[in-house]
Amino acid sequence: MVNIVIRTEDLNIYYGKRKILEDVNVDIYENSISAVIGPSGTGKSSFLRSLNRLNDLIPGARVTGKVYYRGRNIYEDDVNVYLLRTRIGMVFQRPTIFPMSIYENVAFGLRINNVKDEDLIYKRVKEALIKAALWDEVKDRLDDGAYNLSTGQQQRLCLARTLAIEPDVLLLDEPTSYLDPKSTKKIEDVLLKLKERYTIVIVTHSLNQAKRIADYVLVFMPDEDNVGRLIEYGPSTQVLQNPVDPKTREYVEGLIG
Ligand SMILES: Nc1ncnc2c1ncn2[C@@H]1O[C@H](COP(=O)(O)OP(=O)(O)OP(=O)(O)O)[C@@H](O)[C@H]1O
Ligand SMILES: [Mg+2]
Repeated sequence: MVNIVIRTEDLNIYYGKRKILEDVNVDIYENSISAVIGPSGTGKSSFLRSLNRLNDLIPGARVTGKVYYRGRNIYEDDVNVYLLRTRIGMVFQRPTIFPMSIYENVAFGLRINNVKDEDLIYKRVKEALIKAALWDEVKDRLDDGAYNLSTGQQQRLCLARTLAIEPDVLLLDEPTSYLDPKSTKKIEDVLLKLKERYTIVIVTHSLNQAKRIADYVLVFMPDEDNVGRLIEYGPSTQVLQNPVDPKTREYVEGLIG
């Protein structure tokens, strides 16, 4: 039996009066990588943000329906959103580096979560950097400014920052779209290793990336009113090689070219 970590039920997302995503019903399985694919503007990023209530921070954004995280609807009033976001962490498309040292960039998440024990912080920072496959490259210059790192390294640093707070689920929004193939491969290798212990949801515009790393694929597509819909989801080989929906087939074949 595979455990369901996240389940959405009739999830709708609005910005102001405009509905941008309609009736998403999907299960995200434990220790797997789920890739979210589809054309630009179909609500992939909005969907990802709805899974740890980051949409709460966007003026005008509204979510209806249910998102269960390990059996509990995260949109209930008494949910501790800060705690939720330590369980479900997020990495964005552009590396979000702070003007601090490499070390402090990773320690940041721990400090804002009130971890005070410096030995524990060091231990967690080191472990996170090792998991993000960055430790060997930075261990001798932890006090250097993080801006000196390459974009690929910065992205792994962001991943390390998220890992340092020991989340359960990782949400990644096109984490490699600004990276060269070599840096991309590093991140993909890290994700393949991480899925043994984490549940990962990644938005990608690269079908090849989905093929290389995804266990499951979710396809978002606009309907005739230009509202995003989850038109197909399932095991990645089935969705990418033998899609049921003709629109998925067209999209997949179009991307292959
Ligand atoms: N803060 C916002 N305010 C108003 N509309 C928004 C906001 N964020 C996104 N939208 C709109 O919602 C729709 C979905 O956007 P979203 O960023 O989720 O799509 P996406 O699938 O991630 O696109 P891309 O592949 O380009 O990243 C788009 O029409 C977008 O213009
Ligand atoms: Mg997006």
